[in-house]
Amino acid sequence: MTSRAVVPPTDKLDWTTIGFQYRDTNGFVKYTWTEETGWDEGKFLTDPMLNIHVCATGLHYGQQCFEGLKAFRDNDGRVRIFRPDVNAKRMQRSADMAHMPRVPVEIFEQAVRRTVEANLEFVPPKESGGSLYIRPVLFGSGPFIGMGAAPEFSFIVFGMPVGNYYSGGVVPVDALVIEDFDRTAPNGTGATKVGGNYASTFGPMLRAKKQGYPITLHLDSKTHTYIDEFSTSNFVALTHPDPVTKKRTFVTPNSSTILQSVTRLSLEDIAEKTLGWEVEERPVKFEELVQGRFAEVAAVGTAAILTPVRKIVRGDQVVCIGSGTQTEIGEGFARLYKEYRGIQSGDQDDTFGWMWPAEGL
Ligand SMILES: Cc1ncc(COP(=O)(O)O)c(C=O)c1O
Repeated sequence: MTSRAVVPPTDKLDWTTIGFQYRDTNGFVKYTWTEETGWDEGKFLTDPMLNIHVCATGLHYGQQCFEGLKAFRDNDGRVRIFRPDVNAKRMQRSADMAHMPRVPVEIFEQAVRRTVEANLEFVPPKESGGSLYIRPVLFGSGPFIGMGAAPEFSFIVFGMPVGNYYSGGVVPVDALVIEDFDRTAPNGTGATKVGGNYASTFGPMLRAKKQGYPITLHLDSKTHTYIDEFSTSNFVALTHPDPVTKKRTFVTPNSSTILQSVTRLSLEDIAEKTLGWEVEERPVKFEELVQGRFAEVAAVGTAAILTPVRKIVRGDQVVCIGSGTQTEIGEGFARLYKEYRGIQSGDQDDTFGWMWPAEGL
């Protein structure tokens, strides 16, 4: 155990209504890279306004990428961050894609830790179900008008307290398949977290929302035959339980154009190693949904964790998962969700060693 006193949550915020939105905190960290010096020691800054060059490549050419992860409080008030090493490695793949210098895993972890340590009072109380959402961003901040890498890159990490996405319980939603827009091309940028993959989905997502679909599903861009992922989360499905063993198979697409979700990888481990279920990462045909092969479908990602999907609409076709009218999470995902959240909140033993640092902050 660390000997430092626990820093309790501030009493200036109403933890029951904080929702998911940007809020100022005490400050953030910023590291700078140049060809001559490499990555510097990083600085803690309190003014959220950045001063960057008018010709920064991050602004003009989308030379940037970002990450999203969370820190949680346990029963003793200690704070731990969920799997920052996995996000660090994913950010390196995004950096390669946008021709940027990699942030070493140790610098990424150090930056996240510094940000959390400086903002401990913004980590919500455990019982609220909230967390500190952490946003690392890497971008070309120096001037370059040609096609190429900037002379300077910035790596910033800030955080904001966010509430329990499911204060009223985990509620199944209806999803809409986006047919007139493809999120990413074959051999394109889909497996990385570059900003350009996101801005282009805002329009289709907002139009779907207006029609009553909180989430949108993308099929493979080339043939629209296979399932890729939801606009901001991975697609996962559970088969019907075996009548004798009650075990299920956890099925998820292995498409090369989707983001490797840390949530999904973690749920796979829980399914396989804790619950003893089979895990299949393979191409998943949309037709399999139509054939009723899956008992449960969900969208999974850091922000919302796990959103059960009860209906998927593709043009005139309506595909029900189960009855299509269920109002609660299914039995299979309920088990996975409980284990996963239990590890984050410290209610379950962290047998996978996911919470960092182990002694807490
Ligand atoms: C396109 C996309 N897929 C999946 C995910 C879920 O990934 P994670 O579980 O690492 O948050 C995200 C969110 O980061 C995303 O933006």
